[in-house]
Amino acid sequence: MTVPPTPDIVELFPTPSAPLAPEELLSLYSPDRATPRLRVNFVQSVDGSATVDGLSGGLGGPADKVVFNILRGVADVVLVGAGTARAEGYGALTVDERFHGWREALRMPVHPAMALVSGRLDLDPASDLFAKAPRRPLVFTSKAAPPDARRRLAPVADVVDAGDERVDPALVVRELHERGLTQILCEGGPSFFGDLIAADLVDELCLTLSPVLEGGAGPRIARAGGATSGAGGSTGAPVVPRHLALAGLLQSDSLLLSRWTRAAA
Ligand SMILES: NC(=O)c1ccc[n+]([C@@H]2O[C@H](COP(=O)([O-])OP(=O)(O)OC[C@H]3O[C@@H](n4cnc5c(N)ncnc54)[C@H](OP(=O)(O)O)[C@@H]3O)[C@@H](O)[C@H]2O)c1
Repeated sequence: MTVPPTPDIVELFPTPSAPLAPEELLSLYSPDRATPRLRVNFVQSVDGSATVDGLSGGLGGPADKVVFNILRGVADVVLVGAGTARAEGYGALTVDERFHGWREALRMPVHPAMALVSGRLDLDPASDLFAKAPRRPLVFTSKAAPPDARRRLAPVADVVDAGDERVDPALVVRELHERGLTQILCEGGPSFFGDLIAADLVDELCLTLSPVLEGGAGPRIARAGGATSGAGGSTGAPVVPRHLALAGLLQSDSLLLSRWTRAAA
């Protein structure tokens, strides 16, 4: 396994370290596959923004990219809200070939599955995300989704109802588990993360803190009430704080890469 941790990445917590070897970095993020886990990955500015000029690309850096790729490399499925897929121009989901041997040794398909969450199904079936996908993507929607859009996507994706008026994240997780996809990596975005928090489904948050002051125009990484557009609707569910414990802290230049897990009850 050769994940290049460039530049140097050192561990601050729980054990201060010299720069980590690629295998050590991989092992820090390798899940216990016996335990189903929903892991969420975000990057934010130090003043709390999830975007610069509408995208996450202005945040992060080389070390964040290394960890981003490891998180994908060890996942069974990457789950993402349609808003993020549209804004960030998601293409076909493939993982670097450096992970293929590792995955094959664990009898995992070489690429994770891709799963999207959308109420309106405003997704282009001809886009690379579907047309070049190595595995047939899943699209979670609700019974209220527009029938035309559903028909357009059916040839290129498994369109799965997971709710009546909006997507219920608990039904999404249940369906993924039933398909044997128990190591779930959610890459956002803020609306869907808000729904996951409300449903108390977040087992782990990988959060990169980026040395940027964005200034206040961008969104936070979680939005209460979830999706507000189209058939996504809003739950209006009360916000309940969920408690986490620090599980790991890495540093590379001025980036801090933190890992937080569900606190013991
Ligand atoms: N900093 C980071 O790490 C990071 C990570 C991810 C995203 N982002 C940024 O976040 C922004 C996007 O934010 P966002 O809140 O729009 O992202 P999002 O949560 O990915 O997308 C929201 C959309 O997803 C669908 N959706 C989410 N939850 C749903 C539910 N429960 N039921 C039905 N549909 C649901 C809806 O799609 P339809 O409209 O199709 O119905 C909704 O409009 C972008 O600027 C992106 O760059 C940043």
